[in-house]
Parts: sequence; C-alpha cells; structure tokens
Amino acid sequence: MTATSMEELVSLCKRRGFIFQSNDIYGGVKGLYDYGPMGVELKNNLKQAWWKSMVYERDDIEGLDASILSAPVVLQQSGHEDTFSDPLVDCKTCKARFRADQLENSECPKGGGFLADCKLKDLTEPRPFNLMFKTAIGPVDDGSSFAYLRPETCQQIFTNFKNVTDATSRVVPFGIAQIGKAFRNEITPRNFIFRVREFEQMELEFFVKPGSDDEWHKYWVDKRIEWWEAQGVSKKNLYPVDVEKSELSHYSKATVDIMYKFPHGKEELEGIANRTDFDLGSHTKNQKEFNINSKVKKNEHSTTKLGVQNLEDKNSYIPFVIEPSAGVDRGLLAILNEAYTIENLENESSRTVLKLKPHLSPIKAAVIPLKKNNEHIVAKAKKIKNELQNLGLGRVMLENSGNIGKNYRRHDEIGTPICITVDFETLDDDSVTIRDRDSMKQERVSSKDLNQFYQKYFH
Ligand code: GAP
Repeated sequence: MTATSMEELVSLCKRRGFIFQSNDIYGGVKGLYDYGPMGVELKNNLKQAWWKSMVYERDDIEGLDASILSAPVVLQQSGHEDTFSDPLVDCKTCKARFRADQLENSECPKGGGFLADCKLKDLTEPRPFNLMFKTAIGPVDDGSSFAYLRPETCQQIFTNFKNVTDATSRVVPFGIAQIGKAFRNEITPRNFIFRVREFEQMELEFFVKPGSDDEWHKYWVDKRIEWWEAQGVSKKNLYPVDVEKSELSHYSKATVDIMYKFPHGKEELEGIANRTDFDLGSHTKNQKEFNINSKVKKNEHSTTKLGVQNLEDKNSYIPFVIEPSAGVDRGLLAILNEAYTIENLENESSRTVLKLKPHLSPIKAAVIPLKKNNEHIVAKAKKIKNELQNLGLGRVMLENSGNIGKNYRRHDEIGTPICITVDFETLDDDSVTIRDRDSMKQERVSSKDLNQFYQKYFH
C-alpha cells in the first residue's frame, strides 16, 4: 500500500518528527526542509545502505567527502556557468516568476490558484536563469573572490581523480562514491521534499575504458533498480526511461532516468548518465595529448592531466564515466510512500503503520517499561536498552512515556520493527514481551535470549 496523497505523508512527517518546514517559526522558507529526530535517523540509514552497497560490499569503489564551496573555474570548465539554467518568465502584472516549461502546473504565489486560470497574467518571453548559488570567500566581499555552492556533488570527484588514483593505485574500471549536499536555486520548488533548493545526492562516478561504456551503463541501470527494490521500493512503481537525445544534459551521451510513481505523479528518482570523457577532459591540462570528446571546453587553467595509461599499448587516454546519481531526499520520499500503510483492525478502528525495511527504521526497537514509576521495571528496561544499543545496529529507544497502547501506535507510525515490554512478570521469570510491528503478534522471550533474538532479527 502507498499513501493516497502527498498531504498524508506531509502530515505524518510533521506529527512524528521526520521532516519540518525550515525556519518554520518565522513563516518558513520555500524549498528548504529540516529533518527531525526520526528523519535524521531514516536519512542516515538510507545513506549508510547506499555506502555499504557501493564501497564496503564491492572491491572496485573508493569513497570521498569533498568541499561544498567550489572555485568558479571548476564550474566554468564543467559547463555549468553556461548551461545550468532553467527557462524563466516574469508576470508583468504581479511580478511573480515561473519556470517557462512548467506553466501548466504552476500556481500564482500572489493571486493563488493555477496560473492557467489567471485572467490578468501578462508573461515575458522566457530567458535562462542560472540555478547556482554564489557566496563570498574571505573577509573582502568585493566580488573578486566568490565561490559557488556546488550544484551537484560530482565535480569534486573529477577534480580529485588524480589524487585518488595516486593514493590508491586504482586502475579502470573503478569508481569514486560520494554523498553530500548540493544546492540549486530552483525557480519553483514544489511537492514537499521532491524539488528543493538544498538537498543531498548519492553519486557514483564509475570510470571505464571508452568502448566498454555502453555495457557498463546497462550494468549500472540494472544494479540501481535492484538496490531501490532492496530498500522497499516495489519494482512495479519504478520505470527506467531513456532520456530523449534533445533532452540530454550537455555532458551526456545517453541517460536513463529511473522514474518513480510519487504521490504527485511519475518523476525522476535517480539519473544514470554516460558522461563520456567530458568532465575529466574538461578539467585536463594539455587536452591535445588525448583523443577526447569534441564538446570538451579548452582548458587554460588546470595544472593536471586527468588521464590513465593503457596497460597494453602504454598510450594515455581519458576514461569514460558512468554516473548513477540519486537524490537522498527523493529516495526518502519514495521509501516513506511505499511504507505508508493504513490497516483496518477488527474492532472497526484502523492504524497507520510505516512498513519500513528494518535496516532503514529510525528506531530499531523500543523498550517499554509497563509501569513508569516502578524502579525495578524501569531499571530492567534501561539495562535491556543499553545492551541492545551496544550491539551497534542502530538507535534503540527507552520509551518511558504514555500508556502501552499509545506507545504501540506511535512506534507503528515511526516504523519501529519491534517493541519490547518489561512488566511485573519480568521481575518474576526474567521474560519480556516482544511485539512485531507488521503482524502485531506478541511472544514471550527470556531476556537472556534477547540479544540473540535481536541480532537474528536484523540480520
Ligand atoms: N550529477 C548529475 C546530476 O546532478 P541530476 O539529474 O540533475 O543529475 C541527480 O540530479 C538527482 O538529484 C536527481 O535524480 C534527483 O534525485 C536529485 N535532485 C536533483 N535536483 C533536485 C532538487 N531540486 N531537489 C531534490 N532532489 C534533486
């Protein structure tokens, strides 16, 4: 089951502490969101699952965590200064601004209602609006030393290509993975955390020999769909789509977008691009020595050659790159949507339950003392909590508030896979009740077997 509307998800996210509008108490800022106590755990778990599958479980990928502030020359060479823009139109009547390619879905921020229905609208011709944010570096803000906030995480992977290959002796095919913030001054941020101005990306740049790129491209599309399924996104809601040639980004030879059926419609969850040798070529000194893509910009600034040597004929070449680029925030939205379930119960009531995969659940287990004022019960619950926490599988919570029914309801909505209740019987026979989120079945387990039960459950 999935949510029937975005409003259901927005409401659950606020109520249970997943996601809040940023700067809420001052009226909020469009396109910015804050992740609350549950959101930060879910987000970390999702990023950790990606990192594990990319870096730990493979032997051909290294990790990186590069700076967010970017020297302008990097984004000149990458083509972003010239091309990273959306078409913008102004309304001469009310001065509001809109994305020219999304007019039919745009609402007027001044008058309310859809722009299409506005009788007073008087739009200018479209003009390009560059989406990159600028800031000043250093104490003098006279425009001479500005930096961009990176609009995609990957450019610093390219600029560090030689550093990483020198430090690790990697030879192609191999990849560099990075997770981090990216910033885009979107003209019309919309649909909750789907299109925002500050977001996170999980990007892999996988370097391959030219000629083997089409095969690797297909490999990564299949791998990425498999990975989303392992995070609980059902295959029937994922649609790989070949991007039309006319729609390709300036660096791409071919791109497959993995589209997902979000509550507001089918849109891109992840893009997998064949970026050819465009980026390493653009950041390379003395490009003449390499036979590279004709679209590459002449480089008079770089000090480094970002090529590798062909081990057979000893000639140098610039590797091609396949880039699976996923949005953390969009991933989270898809996962929340897939997990959101309303179940009718026997007594004509219903419950909302987030059926998250246990490895993603913000809280792995809630330990609930049945009587919050009984010091023996509370002490035993704390001991169990600490022992399970020390197993290192994620956050375990001591839930010492409200009644047991309310606690179960709250943990169903947060997606906690198991609740462990400590009661008077525990003091007699050292057993606890374990309640399963999905089946709601309860079983009695001796607390000395609890660690083993818990580890088995999460593995
Ligand atoms: N390096 C390639 C790149 O950045 P992209 O298609 O522009 O490609 C990759 O972005 C992913 O980043 C998208 O599939 C999406 O998940 C996420 N993304 C892009 N813009 C976003 C935005 N404004 N808000 C939230 N996520 C965004």
